[in-house]
Amino acid sequence: MDRIALEVNKFYERYPYPSLPVRTERDLVRKLHANVMGKILATAGLVPSSLSGKEILDAGCGTGEKACYFSYYGARVTAIDLCRASLQKAKELAEKFSLKVDFGCCDIAEFKPGKKFDHVFCLGALHHTEKPYENFTALADLCKPGGTITIGLYNRYGRLSHRAARMWISLRSGSDIEKRMSYVERSIYRRKLRSIHEKAYVADKYVNPHESYHTVGEVLGWFGKNDFRFIGSHPHTRTGVKAFFSQLRWMARGNGFFIMSGRRSFSKALKYP
Ligand SMILES: C[S@@+](CC[C@H](N)C(=O)[O-])C[C@H]1O[C@@H](n2cnc3c(N)ncnc32)[C@H](O)[C@@H]1O
Repeated sequence: MDRIALEVNKFYERYPYPSLPVRTERDLVRKLHANVMGKILATAGLVPSSLSGKEILDAGCGTGEKACYFSYYGARVTAIDLCRASLQKAKELAEKFSLKVDFGCCDIAEFKPGKKFDHVFCLGALHHTEKPYENFTALADLCKPGGTITIGLYNRYGRLSHRAARMWISLRSGSDIEKRMSYVERSIYRRKLRSIHEKAYVADKYVNPHESYHTVGEVLGWFGKNDFRFIGSHPHTRTGVKAFFSQLRWMARGNGFFIMSGRRSFSKALKYP
């Protein structure tokens, strides 16, 4: 594990993310779909019924809600994360709903499963690693020809005002996780944070020790270099010069996080059987 992975891991062991309050099957399926999964799947041209029997990798799965959702719809799910506390919660969630997920504690950079996946998801993890592009290529390599990869990253423009807030928090409270948390609670929220989920959300947003910022053009470049064709995003973006204007809109709306999906071409498989 590199220095950044160590620091980030220490942080998530303290605040496993997202720690959603999933009490009922309805929370896991309908609520999660309405809040996030519907949008995520749509970027890759997927719907819940298309997941059945598919090999899915959820890299940086956190507390496992998305991995359990995939499994609920009949996918064969492998989910990895560096954080043992998150994985413990994820396993408990899967057990609660009798879902089968193959969980593993592993660094994305070192993951060698010995098989390929129809759909690879990595949401909110690459920007907490030292080498986001290298980790992307490792995941891209695990995608079957014709399969999809979906990544969620912080946007360089959309997260601008947020970056300013993070810098201010660092100036006022330094780098200690707990000092930063109590500063955010006191000065930004001005009340006690209410639930484990709210604490996890606030910590991830303001206190995370490392994050990087990316653009649509950069991700299109990653896709191109690895033989992936862009298929969809959330929020919607156009490509080329117009992507810049899409991102300016995200900045105005405060959309700091964007999701992009690409499909792996068959050509490599044909050239190198
Ligand atoms: C913001 S959380 C996202 C969790 C989940 N994907 C979601 O969308 O709710 C980021 C997760 O990535 C994991 N992570 C960060 N760096 C990692 C690495 N190098 N290898 C594996 N997991 C990593 C963290 O432990 C954390 O659980």
